Amino acid sequence: MESGPIGIFDSGFGGLTVMREIVNELPEYDYVYLGDNARAPYGNRSFDTVYEYTLQCVKTLFAKGCPLVILACNTASAKALRTIQQDLPRIAPDRRVLGVIRPTTEVIGNYSKSKHLGILATEGTVKSGSYIIEIEKFFPELLVSQQACPMWVSLVENNELASDGANYFIKKNLDQLFEQDNHIDTLLLGCTHYPLLSKSIKKLLPANINIVSQGRIVAESLKTYLQKHNEMQERCTKKGTKTFFTTDDAETFSIRAEQFFGEQVIAQTVHIVS
Ligand code: DGL
Repeated sequence: MESGPIGIFDSGFGGLTVMREIVNELPEYDYVYLGDNARAPYGNRSFDTVYEYTLQCVKTLFAKGCPLVILACNTASAKALRTIQQDLPRIAPDRRVLGVIRPTTEVIGNYSKSKHLGILATEGTVKSGSYIIEIEKFFPELLVSQQACPMWVSLVENNELASDGANYFIKKNLDQLFEQDNHIDTLLLGCTHYPLLSKSIKKLLPANINIVSQGRIVAESLKTYLQKHNEMQERCTKKGTKTFFTTDDAETFSIRAEQFFGEQVIAQTVHIVS
């Protein structure tokens, strides 16, 4: 059984906000990041397309030696994770793939006093109903409203974080969410790109609204997973290295990635396994 780095995947830059927290929590491990920037955003794509693209990227990370891959993308977690997990006995029986939705839903109810939760996510994540189904299992008393924000990933990918144009779309979708339920006291950023818009979101909301990003939640959950699964923990190599791949231009990725990851990133372009 192969040993290797932990793989972290996202459609683009967003997963770096999760990787940042994972590295912070578990600095001793080796990591390989893959951003499918050439085909981002995934949010408005069909189930079949998100599944096909995600599977290719997971296979690419397996080919880099990763015994464990984290889908640090809600859209991929919502639309592709379950099918990929079902494929694993056939394509890679000794490897594991985990997502970001389940760990988030296991704790999200603890953040809200009013028990009214708002979720902002891509159209794909909202339509999949994954959050509603999973939250019902852990916090059935929670009243959950969801709002798709179809432009937000593109705003982040294009570095439009606080411009008038960005504020227009952020306000529009926040208004739509609070029209559904004005007792919401906790907002889950259910897309790993959205933490980059946190400042702009905060400016448009009353101070008592709690904004929750997933990075730390996913990092803590991974730590627990590795403690519980010693056989996997032993196969994840520990030299503290970080390698970054993109399906698009490596130089552009390296320049932008620093903003998401918080430290210098030197990326390489990868050709995905089909
Ligand atoms: N970061 C991805 C997510 O968490 C963005 C998906 C997209 O590419 O639209 O959903």
